[in-house]
Amino acid sequence: MAVKLLWYLTSPDGPYPWLESGRWDTDYEHLQQIAITADRLGFYGSLMGTSEYETLAVAASLIPFTERLKFLVAQHPGEVQPAVLAKYAQSFDAFSQGRLLFNVVNGNDKGLAALGIHYSHDERYDFSKEYWTAFQQNYLGDKSGFEGEFIQISPRQEGASPMSTWHGPTQKQGVPLWGAGTSVKGVQHSVELLDVYLSFANTPPLLGEKFSKVAAEAAKVGRRLEFGTRLQIIVRETEEEAWQYAQSLLDKLDVNYAIEAVKRQLPPDATFETYQSNNHVVQKNLELLRQGILPQAKDFEIYPNIWTGPSLFGFDILNPAAGTALVGSAENIAERIKEYERYGVSAFILSGFPLIGEAYRVADLLFPLLELDHGFELPKLKHRSSVDSLVKKIVA
Ligand SMILES: Cc1cc2nc3c(=O)[nH]c(=O)nc-3n(C[C@H](O)[C@H](O)[C@H](O)COP(=O)(O)O)c2cc1C
Repeated sequence: MAVKLLWYLTSPDGPYPWLESGRWDTDYEHLQQIAITADRLGFYGSLMGTSEYETLAVAASLIPFTERLKFLVAQHPGEVQPAVLAKYAQSFDAFSQGRLLFNVVNGNDKGLAALGIHYSHDERYDFSKEYWTAFQQNYLGDKSGFEGEFIQISPRQEGASPMSTWHGPTQKQGVPLWGAGTSVKGVQHSVELLDVYLSFANTPPLLGEKFSKVAAEAAKVGRRLEFGTRLQIIVRETEEEAWQYAQSLLDKLDVNYAIEAVKRQLPPDATFETYQSNNHVVQKNLELLRQGILPQAKDFEIYPNIWTGPSLFGFDILNPAAGTALVGSAENIAERIKEYERYGVSAFILSGFPLIGEAYRVADLLFPLLELDHGFELPKLKHRSSVDSLVKKIVA
């Protein structure tokens, strides 16, 4: 098996962007630089997550700076009429030679209501299924219209009117749909609709368990999905260097930051003083925090080279969630990625900070140790040239 590696483009950036002191004031030019870096290094694609800018606009604006990089664009169903999105996708694909992927995100009640989308949790998934079905039909050139419970589209007549003139699909199987969803309804929606099922990371066995349940549900409806996950990364030439770096990130925090992070993760009726975890590593960290001691970086290693240290996406001390990281030498991390692969994971959406520096490290140190399924030949970096040694040489 081979894997696809993607890089997170629209994230806030800086050496430790979860603290204001470590976050850069970035702009469009910076986004262009990250896109150019990810493209030239040979990443399969880029995650265009919801951010302060509209993902569709950001992705389109980066087409001219990239040649191969695919754009995994977060899209909430209902933000744009499905036929309009289909025409948009045809245009995007025509201009980018078919580099569009959608990340089907279903959002939350408050956020969607503020966009004018008012569906309850379960209804949202039914609507989404119709929305993306109508989208894909229109993208593929079906003009016969759509009669659904939520969506009605009239047949489109061929004619001279600019509204009825469409370019046609570039991706002949449709735009690949990636997405997540853990609730019963979310899984049902995923297995019926998605090509790639995503989840925030956990240890390989626990993530594998989640994915095998989803694969079993998919089999019931005669479908097979690919599986992907999202991880931060700190890769260095040696394991020691990587953990030293992780420790240096932790050293920038005080213990109250960690205590507040725990409080945010507690179940509704639990308190920081009394909560007990049945995971002994977590319980030990909790006891240290209660004594006012911040645990060491290695104390947050929940599985070899899997870390729940501080990150932009959470300091998930009680349970791994959106901020889980891979920490280690390239050999350690390649081994862990191969372990995830054995549990069926074939796409890895990575990010490390600062985004450009860490992207170079990943390409330089890790790419050569993995079999990559990117659909093109990788641009050649000098093997083992190492970003760190290059930087040292330039400084000397
Ligand atoms: C890799 C990945 C990327 C995501 N990107 C976005 C995003 O850009 N915007 C958004 O609103 N939600 C995003 N999500 C959140 C999911 O759509 C979903 O709300 C989240 O996974 C929690 O749902 P679940 O617990 O049912 O899986 C992302 C999730 C994953 C796993």
